[in-house]
Amino acid sequence: MNLLLIGGTGFLGSHLAAVLAAAGHRLTLPTRRRERAKHLALLPTVEVVEADVHNPATLARLCRGQDAVFSLVGILKGGEGDPYGAGFARAHVELPQKVAAACRAAGVPRLIHVSALKAAADAPSGYLRSKAAGETAVLAAQPEVAVTIVRPSVIFGRGDSFLTLFAGLLKMAPLVPLACPAARFQPVWMGDVTTVLAACLERTDSHGRAYDLCGPRVYSLRELVAYAGRVSGHPRPILGLPDFASWLQAWAMEFVPGGPMTRDNVRSMRLPSICDSGCALPFGIEPTPLEAVAPGYLGPAA
Ligand SMILES: NC(=O)c1ccc[n+]([C@@H]2O[C@H](COP(=O)([O-])OP(=O)(O)OC[C@H]3O[C@@H](n4cnc5c(N)ncnc54)[C@H](OP(=O)(O)O)[C@@H]3O)[C@@H](O)[C@H]2O)c1
Repeated sequence: MNLLLIGGTGFLGSHLAAVLAAAGHRLTLPTRRRERAKHLALLPTVEVVEADVHNPATLARLCRGQDAVFSLVGILKGGEGDPYGAGFARAHVELPQKVAAACRAAGVPRLIHVSALKAAADAPSGYLRSKAAGETAVLAAQPEVAVTIVRPSVIFGRGDSFLTLFAGLLKMAPLVPLACPAARFQPVWMGDVTTVLAACLERTDSHGRAYDLCGPRVYSLRELVAYAGRVSGHPRPILGLPDFASWLQAWAMEFVPGGPMTRDNVRSMRLPSICDSGCALPFGIEPTPLEAVAPGYLGPAA
C-alpha cells in the first residue's frame, strides 16, 4: 500500500514506519526539518519529505494516491487557553480537520488517527480537550473515509520521553522532587501500539472504531520513577511534592527551554491514565509487561 504518515518522524511514527516498511508498504513521511528524520533514511521504501502539512495545498498533494493516512502529530506543550492553548488548537484540532478534508477530497479510503487515553471535551487539561476535538475532526471524514481512532496511555519503548527521561534526570540528580507522585498510569509498549496500528490497516472490523490502549499493570508515577532509577543503575530518593508545589514546579519549568513539565501536564495527570475496562488491547493482542522490555533500553548496558 501507499501510506502517508503525518507525524511519522517522531517516537511512535519512527517505530511504526519501521514495521510498515518491513511489511513492504511504500511510505511518505513529511517533516518540518529533514535532519530530524535522518534516522529514517535507511529504511527501504520510505521517503522523507520536507513539507508544511498545515498548508492545505501541500496536504492535498501528499494525500494524492495514498491508500491510507496515519495521523500521528501530537504535542505536550501547547500553551494555556480555554478550552486549549493556541499550539494545541493548531496541532491537535486544526491539523486533523485539514487532514480529514484532504483525505475526503483526494479519495483516500482510510484514516487512522492517534489520540490519547482520556481525551474528552470536559477533561481537566487543554491537551486532553484538544485531543477530543481532534477526534471529532477526523470523524467528520466519514462515511467516505473509514476512520479508526487509537487512544494509548503513556507509551514506553526505546527512545521514549517517559522512562528514558526519568532515567536521565536520576543520573544527574542526587534527589528527585517529583510532581504528582500519586498520578496513575497503565503504560503500553510501543511494540504493542505499532502492532495495533498496523493491524488496523488490514482489519475492516476496525472501521469506525476507537480503541483505548493500555499495558497489563497500573503504576503510580512514583513507582515508575523509582523503577527507572533501579533499572538504569541510578536509584535515588524521591521526594513526592504536594499538589501546590507540583503546580509551582511545573509553572517554573515552563520558563526552562525544553523543560520537562507544564501546568497543563499537571492537569492531565489529575485523571488516571488507565483503561476503565482493565487491561485492554484489541484483536486478541496480549499486552507486554514493562519489566520485560524496559531493562533492554534503560539498563546500564543499553
Ligand atoms: N508518546 C506517548 O507516550 C503518547 C501517549 C499517548 C498518545 N500519544 C500520541 O501519539 C502520537 C505520537 O506521539 P509521539 O510520542 O511519537 O510524538 P513525538 O515523538 O513528539 O513526534 C511528534 C511528531 O509530530 C510532528 N509534529 C510535532 N508538532 C508538529 C506541528 N506543530 N506541526 C506538524 N507536525 C508536528 C513531528 O514532526 P517533525 O518534528 O519531524 O516535523 C513528529 O513527527 C501523538 O499524537 C501523541 O499525542 C503519545
